[in-house]
Amino acid sequence: MIREVYSTRTLEGCRLLVAEDADEAASLAASIVEATLSEAASPVLGVATGATPLLTYEMLVRRGLSSHDLRLVLLDEYIGLAPNDERGFAATIQRQLASPLGISPDRVHAPPVSRTLTSARCEGFEREVRILDGVDLQILGIGQNGHIAFNEPGSAFDSRTRAVLLSPLTKQNNCSMFGGSDDVPERACTQGIGTILEARRLLLLATGAQKAAILARALFGSIDPAVPASAIRLHPDVVVVADTEAARLLPATA
Ligand code: F6R
Repeated sequence: MIREVYSTRTLEGCRLLVAEDADEAASLAASIVEATLSEAASPVLGVATGATPLLTYEMLVRRGLSSHDLRLVLLDEYIGLAPNDERGFAATIQRQLASPLGISPDRVHAPPVSRTLTSARCEGFEREVRILDGVDLQILGIGQNGHIAFNEPGSAFDSRTRAVLLSPLTKQNNCSMFGGSDDVPERACTQGIGTILEARRLLLLATGAQKAAILARALFGSIDPAVPASAIRLHPDVVVVADTEAARLLPATA
C-alpha cells in the first residue's frame, strides 16, 4: 500500500510517497520513470548507481522500458579506475540497465575521469548534456551523510561538475566492490548540485532503516549545504519515494 504524504510548507514542490517495502518502492519508482519518459520527445534519464536504485532498474528491465531513443546520463564516476573496470559506475550502469535494455554505450553519457581532470573537460560534459536538451528525470539516492551524487556535505548548491575527494564514510559505504575502504578511489568526478537541479524532474529514492535519520534531516531540517540532499527542496518538481523503514523518522502526517 502506498501512502501519499502531501507537502507541508517545508516540502513545497515535493511529493513524498511511502511504500510498504523496497520492492513496492521500486515498482512505484519504475512507474514514475516510465510515465515521465513517455512524455519526453527524446527521453534522457539521469541514473544513480549504488544499492538503492538496483531493484528499480531490475523492474524497468523486466517491464521492458521503451529504450527507443533513450539516453542515460550518469551522476558520477570514480577517478583512477581503468576504463573498463567492472567496479566503475559506467560499467555498472551498462551491466544493470543499458545492456539489458539494448542501449549502446554511445548513448550513455558519463562525467570525465582522467587523472588530470580539467575544468574544460567538466564543462564539456555539461555541454554534452545540454546538447541532449537536459535530463528529463534524474534518479537520486541519498548517502548516509546526506550526499547526492558525490556532493559531500559542504558542497555549494550552485556547484557544477567537478573532481571531488570522497569522505571516509562514503568510501566505507562504497567498499563492497573493492577489497576494503582503503581500495576505494580517493577521488571522483561528480555532477554538481547546481547541475543536478537543472533536471526537469527529480526522483529521490531512499530505502532501509540506515537512511531514516538523514532522510528526515534532508526533508524536514534546514535547507543547508551541510545536508546536500536538502537542496532538492529548491526544485519545483520532486518526487521522493521511501519505504516504511526509511520513512520511519518522518513526521507522521506531513
Ligand atoms: C551513486 C551516487 C550516490 C548514491 C548514494 C547512496 O551514483 O550518486 O550518491 O546514490 O551513495 O548509495 P546507496 O544507494 O548504495 O545507499
